[in-house]
Amino acid sequence: MWLKSQILLLYCIASEVWMAKQLDSRRNFPRGLYSVEDGGSAKWNRLKRSLYQGKSCRVRGCCTGRDDACSFNIVSKAAICYCDQFCASGSPGPVDCCADYWDVCDHPVEPTRSDEPWPSGCYKDGRYYGEGTIIKDNCNSCKCFQSLWKCSKEVCLVRQDLIQYINSGDYGWKADNYSQFWGMTVEEGFKKRLGTFPPSNSLLNMRETPGNSLPEEKFPAFFAATYAWPEWIHDPLDQRNCGASWAFSTASVAADRIAIHSEGQITDNLSAQNLISCDTSNQHGCNGGSIDGAWRYLKTHGVVSYACYPSFWNNHLEPSSENRCYVSSEYGKNYTNGPCPNALEESNRLYRCASHYRVSSKETDIMKEIMDKGPVQAIMKVYEDFFLYKEGIYRHSQKAGSKWKIHSVKLLGWGALADKNGQKQKFWIAANSWGKSWGENGYFRILRGQNECDIEKLILTTLG
Ligand SMILES: *[C@@H]1O[C@H](CO)[C@@H](O)[C@H](O)[C@H]1NC(C)=O
Ligand SMILES: *[C@@H]1O[C@H](CO)[C@@H](O)[C@H](O)[C@H]1NC(C)=O
Ligand SMILES: *[C@@H]1O[C@H](CO)[C@@H](O)[C@H](O)[C@H]1NC(C)=O
Repeated sequence: MWLKSQILLLYCIASEVWMAKQLDSRRNFPRGLYSVEDGGSAKWNRLKRSLYQGKSCRVRGCCTGRDDACSFNIVSKAAICYCDQFCASGSPGPVDCCADYWDVCDHPVEPTRSDEPWPSGCYKDGRYYGEGTIIKDNCNSCKCFQSLWKCSKEVCLVRQDLIQYINSGDYGWKADNYSQFWGMTVEEGFKKRLGTFPPSNSLLNMRETPGNSLPEEKFPAFFAATYAWPEWIHDPLDQRNCGASWAFSTASVAADRIAIHSEGQITDNLSAQNLISCDTSNQHGCNGGSIDGAWRYLKTHGVVSYACYPSFWNNHLEPSSENRCYVSSEYGKNYTNGPCPNALEESNRLYRCASHYRVSSKETDIMKEIMDKGPVQAIMKVYEDFFLYKEGIYRHSQKAGSKWKIHSVKLLGWGALADKNGQKQKFWIAANSWGKSWGENGYFRILRGQNECDIEKLILTTLG
């Protein structure tokens, strides 16, 4: 009995493979009028169908609602068609291989056996594309080849399955589809939307300024620098597809600190572009840079205002010209040597910062620093799910894989909320540099006190 069933199983597998081979070889036949097989014994056909169905479903995925009792063969297509909408489905959309589809779609009757030749080509979203057509499906490109879409297999930055997974789970945050990320691969997202070099050993070993490690009760439950210094805190920036968060986060924290330190004498927002284009020693502009390098440049050279040197000046995003510096500064001078790149702005004043320093990684030391002196810069690990963040308290979800790259952001406050189960969830308030349409008006909240994504690992700032 045992042996018998083994043999039967082997036989089934063997015939399935044989069937699949037959079908594959037939697929390469020259196209022409197809004939519809008469079928022979209904029993044999049913067996064939069930065998082919197994293979077909594995290879192409099955469509729902297929009526196995109503089907026929198309020899020239090497296909068995069923009375359903599509007899195969594949990325990027359903592929209809049934020549009779338009006649019998949704009709519970035996199909009329049309003699019309089957046009080779592919379908997506109900549209027909000729053989050889290349279309873009999110971040992948698909070519219609022998009536099937053949797609590249990149992992896209916007993944509907991941959005659904996060939004249906209990993660404390919600995900969204961002049109600015649509069509990008995860690799491109990492390359173009981040851009902070992993901290060097000397930076990691930088001495932490000792804090008082006050107990948390000494602090307000909620604090936001934007409320404490409403006129002096600068809005989230937009780095677009320029991997230079090193420059954007530094310019943003520096502008806030200078405004607070000068007690509102200087509230200009600073030019991240000035850093990107001019701080080029060991820095790589839109291909990444180090935050300590940015702080050193701010101290020695200084940068002009955003109005003087706006982001993406002359749209020089192309790698060839991205490092062209439009201002020149000399040590000790308070103004650049020439006028502003933006001729409409008269002030070519340079803003310099004091030396940067490192804040202790203890939660309450970071809080004390922000409350007393203003926002700080933090590095963080960005996993692919972070791009999809819409609102709530971010934490990395395991489903989003283990790949990450370093980014830098501005921390400017904290708070706490009770979650659905009454558990207290503590968070940081941070500003990203992906524009105001991302997250909570360009801001996000992230779990506090657990070094989530290394957010508490390395905190830098300056006195102003
Ligand atoms: C996401 O947004 C893009 C661009 O706005 C749109 O084309 C696409 O259909 C959306 N995708 C999903 C899964 O909602
Ligand atoms: C710079 O500051 C002005 C107001 O001071 C503001 O209107 C403008 O949006 C800021 N630019 C950026 C990029 O934040
Ligand atoms: C530059 O500005 C600083 C601070 O305002 C001032 O102390 C210094 O004298 C100025 N230097 C020059 C050369 O004007």
